Amino acid sequence: MITNSASGTSIDEIADGIHRISTPATVVPGGFTFNQYLILDDEPLLFHTGLRKLFPLVREAIAAVMPVERLRWIGLSHFEADECGAMNDFLAVAPRAQPLGSETAIMVSINDFADREGRPLADGETLELGRHAVTWFDTPHLPHAWETGYLFERRTSTLLCGDLFTQFGAEHPPVTDGDIFGPSEGARKGMDYYAHAPNTRGMLERLAATRPTTLAVMHGSAWRGDGAALIRSLADALDA
Ligand SMILES: [Fe+2]
Ligand SMILES: [Fe+2]
Repeated sequence: MITNSASGTSIDEIADGIHRISTPATVVPGGFTFNQYLILDDEPLLFHTGLRKLFPLVREAIAAVMPVERLRWIGLSHFEADECGAMNDFLAVAPRAQPLGSETAIMVSINDFADREGRPLADGETLELGRHAVTWFDTPHLPHAWETGYLFERRTSTLLCGDLFTQFGAEHPPVTDGDIFGPSEGARKGMDYYAHAPNTRGMLERLAATRPTTLAVMHGSAWRGDGAALIRSLADALDA
């Protein structure tokens, strides 16, 4: 569903109660997308805000499915502009909302940057949202930034996998069961954004062990299929 025809911003449900908001951009040749994921529940969670300048578009897309002031959690994988640039704009319009991220992210950046105190999540900690529940995984430096981690939504087996499996291009289906690994490896090799942490395989193996059936990718299409196998393919490629 297109929510802004000038920008092409859209919102689509990619798993039960999980909505992908996507805005095309021209930041790299061939185009790019910035995606955010909204988990609709008693305590609605937005994973990533988008760039500060995208705030009006992301807000408009959320408003198509729920009142924005209902937002309870604003999560981030790591501290970058596309992950949390619009954090304070959302905190201003959602009085109950709180930032949500790794203990490192909250300690190092969020509790200074954000206008409301953050809620740190310990590695392995689960947060109940209502019908959904999310578990935090610390993955420092995977693919980049000390504070990085991911959320796994247990009821839909959806891994909110941030910058993993980034695909270039401005036009993507909201969710696909086609090949995203080839395109994401092309993006990784074309613009090496990986920190290559020494225990990368171990961290990817922990994510694979959740056996996700949907990967909620931040740049490109979300993906449906055998997530464990796809994550292990990435671990093999990073070893090579
Ligand atoms: Fe990033
Ligand atoms: Fe990103």
